[in-house]
Amino acid sequence: MATKPMPRFPAGFLWGVSTSAHQIEGAADRRAPSVWDEFTAEPGRVKDGSTAAVACDHYHRYGEDVALLAGLGVNAYRFSVSWPRVNSPGGLDFYDRLVDELGAAGVRPVPTLFHWDLPAGLDWLERDTAARFADHVAVVAERLGDRVPTWITLNEPAEHTLLGHALGVHAPGRRLLFDALPVAHHQLLAHGLAVRALRAAGATDVGIANSHGPTWPASTAPADLAAADFYDTLLNRLFCEPLLLGSYPSGLGALMPGDVEADLKVIAEPLDWYGVNYYAPTRVGAPQGTQSSFGGVTLPAELPFSLHEIEDRPVTDFGWPVVPEGLTELLTGFRDRYGERLPPVVVTENGCSYEGVDDQERIAYLDGHLRALHRALEAGVDVRGYFVWSLLDNFEWAEGYARRFGLVHVDFATLERTPKASYAWFRDVLRAQG
Ligand code: NOJ
Repeated sequence: MATKPMPRFPAGFLWGVSTSAHQIEGAADRRAPSVWDEFTAEPGRVKDGSTAAVACDHYHRYGEDVALLAGLGVNAYRFSVSWPRVNSPGGLDFYDRLVDELGAAGVRPVPTLFHWDLPAGLDWLERDTAARFADHVAVVAERLGDRVPTWITLNEPAEHTLLGHALGVHAPGRRLLFDALPVAHHQLLAHGLAVRALRAAGATDVGIANSHGPTWPASTAPADLAAADFYDTLLNRLFCEPLLLGSYPSGLGALMPGDVEADLKVIAEPLDWYGVNYYAPTRVGAPQGTQSSFGGVTLPAELPFSLHEIEDRPVTDFGWPVVPEGLTELLTGFRDRYGERLPPVVVTENGCSYEGVDDQERIAYLDGHLRALHRALEAGVDVRGYFVWSLLDNFEWAEGYARRFGLVHVDFATLERTPKASYAWFRDVLRAQG
């Protein structure tokens, strides 16, 4: 465990932890179903055969969980608002109570308005879903806006597109490969319409949580460089440049549905900050004519790139390499690429899966990434906040309960919460920051 003192972050820095509704709330009987409920009901979709019907039972135990946040000393909490719950009678009352409880504990609520749990029956292949999302956002903002200063529109539309609609390993389980591109466009449109709905409700602090990571070519051979560049366009530019530059990269706009130029004006509504979820870089090479896998994702042979191991690095239980300096590289790279067009940055997720309550590996991971984040600040990147994924062990999508990302251990038989060593470590880091 590192003993060097953590460098100081700027005054007013947002220190938080993140969760999402479907992964922690449970109380599935008190809301309409989402595409994730349908997906987990299909045999073989989730590795351990589990569902999120109970999950951490946060819906009934939010008081205990807010007390854990208060004990940790974070000044912000990122959670998501379940769209199917909001559509259900009394659903918004839960978020009302949660927001009040957070306010009483002095923790800023930072809700995400869509974190993958699309109401069953809706479909991102349909353009109309974007307008329906804006209606949902208006309802939530109207109810909570008097106490919620900071909003996140979408979580990781890249993963929702790629894993859910291109590869079929997440809900809704479609395997459309590049025919999934309209899902990207409709989510981006939904984001732009949501920003407008939030502005109309008076919101002045609006961002998004996009996943990003450096793409490292497998070699300097031209075919590997080209494949890595293409992957970088899909992961790091496709969901970012429409927002920041008002344009799609590399001609991808021509593959999108509808009046793309008009939609881009909506999509590019100015943001107050840009959220980055960072876990690890990806090593990418030319296609090899066979499947390739990396960190739990298997790519079919027909894609124009392949995934490779990053060697000589420790890996988490999920098989993800631990590369803290990738965070510095990512953020300084974004600043260099987008300059003035990049708003202040918030790291909206960063974390790792490890077993055990004496989780020294998690401490090492988080310590290394916080120092890497500080190096980005020193290099002049305007970073405003950092959120650990996650407060609690929770339902890790297609992995079920097998991956434990929490600072707090959850016994899924008894639902008992036990703070891990990393919880005490993060609390002490926050105390030392003042
Ligand atoms: C990304 C997602 O936003 C979150 O839901 C997931 O649990 C973590 N990363 C870890 O995979």
